[in-house]
Amino acid sequence: MQENFDLQAHNTFGLSVRARYFCEAASVQQCRDALQFACAADLPLLVLGGGSNVLFREDYPGVVLHMTSRGIDVINESAGTVLVRAAGGENWHGFVQHCLHTGMHGLENLALIPGCVGAAPIQNIGAYGVEVKDLITAVEVLDVTTGEIAELSREQCEFGYRDSIFKRGLRGRKIILSVTFRLQRAPLVNVSYAALAQAVSHIVDPQPQQVFDAVCAIRRSKLPDPAALGNAGSFFKNPVISRGLFEKVARDWPELPAFPAGDAPHTSVVRDSVKVPAAWLIEKAGWKGRRLGHAGVYELQPLVLVNHGGASAADITSLAEQVMGSVEQKFGIRLEPEVQWIPPRSMD
Ligand code: FAD
Ligand code: EPU
Repeated sequence: MQENFDLQAHNTFGLSVRARYFCEAASVQQCRDALQFACAADLPLLVLGGGSNVLFREDYPGVVLHMTSRGIDVINESAGTVLVRAAGGENWHGFVQHCLHTGMHGLENLALIPGCVGAAPIQNIGAYGVEVKDLITAVEVLDVTTGEIAELSREQCEFGYRDSIFKRGLRGRKIILSVTFRLQRAPLVNVSYAALAQAVSHIVDPQPQQVFDAVCAIRRSKLPDPAALGNAGSFFKNPVISRGLFEKVARDWPELPAFPAGDAPHTSVVRDSVKVPAAWLIEKAGWKGRRLGHAGVYELQPLVLVNHGGASAADITSLAEQVMGSVEQKFGIRLEPEVQWIPPRSMD
């Protein structure tokens, strides 16, 4: 347990904030020890993986528990289907690579997403036509109050677009110890996402390795590397709006793009709704490439807010709020942050 710990290397925005206490947990026992410590000192506890989807708005007044558990195990295999369990502290991209290299397919489209396996179910990570919920069969959790271990089925996780029960009813109540995935031995690929289809269009029968390579290349071409430019990926979700609102906005902006909303059973707007690209709204509101002090809107992908160096949490939140305000004013569409603000905003 380290005291007054600098979290700069533990959040991809690179913000220099401090945790009152910080510890690493490679085992269930170490998680339980940290929980006991926090409980005895009456302090809150925050689990952290790679820190790639968080915005620390101030110093953290409790215990930050960094998951470092390791292990990837095939737990069952039959008829070409493999159940593989990965520990919460495994690096996500390393896990995707491991599966590809050992002939277990399905995760290729999710290559190069920063962070850890244990965070993947939290917001149901997604990219290039695949959401991780399509591959998860179970999530093993440790209850922060009782210290008991349980397994949640895919259905119990109530996954939606960038959403799960871990962001709602179970928020802060479970430590994700491991995740089990159902993968395939057959080299099936999904190139439904337009930019990916375009990238492999010269290949007659694209193989998983080629899809993986294409996804990595697209991502490198438009998303900033946090090691070079602090960011947390898409800062906002793509808004899912009613068809009525879409048609109203499209009267003034006929070129407004729209995508199928997909299955988002736990959001308030479900049926007859469309997803519109936040990047488009932000660009049309004039923010692409703009800077406010040390914080900025990334010039190649305006859904990404960046730390140009030396930005404070207040700089990033102020920029985010101004972007949200002008998009709402211009289009009547409210952007919702994807990044987890710590502490949460009052309306979250
Ligand atoms: P952290 O940021 O450490 O934590 C995120 C949240 O999960 C926090 O609330 C934390 O308390 C909680 N948490 C983490 N681990 C656990 C655990 N074991 N148990 C309980 N709670 C836990 N996301 C996508 O979906 N698609 C993308 O394409 C994508 N691209 C990105 C690109 C870049 C350049 C960056 C910086 C981010 C991107 N992201 C993307 C966002 C981010 O990578 C994912 O959300 C990732 O899953 C976060 O993992 P993490 O380990 O860094 O989580
Ligand atoms: N667009 C613009 N201007 C731009 C860039 C994009 O108008 O400069 C519009 C275009 O209409 C484009 C659309 O936005 O067709 C979609 O752009 P892109 O394919 O780059 O994807 P995105 O919707 O911006 C989402 C995810 C990403 C994920 C990619 C690929 C969200 C919030 N973001 O971005 O996830 O990698 O699709 O699937 O859903 C993340 O969650 O952190 C993340 C990076």
